[in-house]
Amino acid sequence: MEIIDGKKVAAEIKESIKVEVASLLDQGKKAPHLAAVLVGDDPASHTYVAGKEKACHEVGFISSVYKLPASTKEADLLKVVEFLNNDDEVDGFIVQVPLPKHINETKILEAISPSKDVDGFHPANLGRMVTGLPTFLPATPFGILKLLEYYKIETEGKHCVVLGRSNIVGTPMSLLMSRKAYPGNCTVTICHTKTQNVKEICLTADILIAAVGQPNYVTEDMVKEGAVVIDVGMHRIPDEFKKSGFHLTGDVDFEKVAPKCKAISPVPGGVGPMTIVALIMNTFKAYKKEVY
Ligand code: GUN
Repeated sequence: MEIIDGKKVAAEIKESIKVEVASLLDQGKKAPHLAAVLVGDDPASHTYVAGKEKACHEVGFISSVYKLPASTKEADLLKVVEFLNNDDEVDGFIVQVPLPKHINETKILEAISPSKDVDGFHPANLGRMVTGLPTFLPATPFGILKLLEYYKIETEGKHCVVLGRSNIVGTPMSLLMSRKAYPGNCTVTICHTKTQNVKEICLTADILIAAVGQPNYVTEDMVKEGAVVIDVGMHRIPDEFKKSGFHLTGDVDFEKVAPKCKAISPVPGGVGPMTIVALIMNTFKAYKKEVY
């Protein structure tokens, strides 16, 4: 069984970006700039944004964060988006989701200029992904593709089961795994809350990608011997023995499932670091104008 070490892969990618950025700065060019908009005080969102800032500093990018109160009106958030769309100093930006309930998330994400949408959430960029045009791939699926590539996981002709159909992970992931490319060329099944016989379907998976949002959802009796398991879950479990008061766990019961796997990504240290590095890669693409 091989551990898919996202922390290591992310560190290697960041190192190569850092070298490239240093050389651009030496040539007198400006540094790439990623901005993040954070509305409200969801602790997980604050942690994610802090991780993105840290990664920017590690590779030599400029990072700015616009922190707005939970009471921010939709119209005012739209003004911030418009400001960033027009700010030539910013190469790409993200609006962290979830947003407070009174704000229409779709409306906000659609207001982001596709050329700065480094999260790849805009319908124009999702459409480009579907048709195979150059685009910003959503960060988590992009990070997972990079992991599969790094570990030379065979995908052609394999059965890939994706658990979850969110716009951010499950849906784009399933499309990417079925496209004519490497990683890809899989036969894909997508399972969701209304799927019957989830266990039986999972048992036929050569590659199982879990993005259900339920701690330890995938148990050992759902995984075929020799499968590759990618765990996208990230749950804070209260833990009095931890200084933070919680420990992290994924959608997969790692201890029990790992022995059956050919390869498995842990939580933490699997997909999480890759998601951040994917955002960095997308920002670099925006800076180099490789998409638009
Ligand atoms: N919330 C959870 N993951 C993400 C992400 O990748 N981007 C944004 N904007 N919000 C998120």
